[in-house]
Amino acid sequence: MRQVYVSGSYLPESEARISVFDRGFLFADGVYEVTLVLDGKLVDFASHMARLRRSLRELDMPFSLTEADLLKIHRELIGRNNVSEGLVYLQITRGAADRDFIFPTRDTPNTVVLFTQEKAFVENPVAIRGQHVITVEDLRWRRCDIKTVQLLYPSMAKMQAKSRGADDAWLVRDGYVTEGSSNNAHIVTSDGTIVTRDLSSDILHGITRAVVLQCASELHLRVEERPFTVVEARLATEAFSTSSSGLVNPVVRMDGAPIGNGLPGVVTRRLRQIYLDRSRASAI
Ligand code: PDD
Repeated sequence: MRQVYVSGSYLPESEARISVFDRGFLFADGVYEVTLVLDGKLVDFASHMARLRRSLRELDMPFSLTEADLLKIHRELIGRNNVSEGLVYLQITRGAADRDFIFPTRDTPNTVVLFTQEKAFVENPVAIRGQHVITVEDLRWRRCDIKTVQLLYPSMAKMQAKSRGADDAWLVRDGYVTEGSSNNAHIVTSDGTIVTRDLSSDILHGITRAVVLQCASELHLRVEERPFTVVEARLATEAFSTSSSGLVNPVVRMDGAPIGNGLPGVVTRRLRQIYLDRSRASAI
């Protein structure tokens, strides 16, 4: 049985417990990270920890474990569960306290939960054929840069995609694509420029996005970080999403119409391969 980590203990998943008063459960008062595991090693761990620190700071959530402590727990879980390819999920909440909108005192212990999920992300059939996306209005709160566990709207958007026979939803505010339900959105224009929304509180500052943009500039591809419209996306020659679980994931249809020739594009496939090679080489 899978072993999970809960606030200091490693337990079989069936024995793991958290309080009914946990603020993550009652208020979505928690933050999370998802780190890709390739060949049993963690991809871009330091960047995930830097973003975690930022999320905690933005929510004024005290937390005392160090990056070294968290690395040890991640590795212990990968080892105990013998994960070769998959992810480690980490969630930290403000802990358990009698229900009150006011935060509990700063000495309230956090709830810290980690678990692994094994999954074949590299040989993912959807990434090989290319994703079909629909567009839906972005109705999330305005601090999408903080990686909170408040994921009901993205989940509803994904269900809407599923009910329409698509794989994912791209979220749109004022005619401009913000990001995917759980990934960053990119297009490639007819002159080969990669366009992706600039960093702000409208999107999550994706780790994969940053690495892929770095790879793109090393390849001397043109990159523009700016908002793009749904119309631009429909007219793009390629589109793709990036995330720790989807890696670089082609998008070949939007709202039922093909993007480019309706097949994963050359730029996208090249970036996926380079991202994978780089991740395997730098994983710890
Ligand atoms: N999602 N945007 C959103 C809204 C996300 O939820 C994610 C990640 C990303 C991509 O971030 P990164 O490249 O750092 O994984 C962008 C994770 C994988 C999830 O919720 O499962």
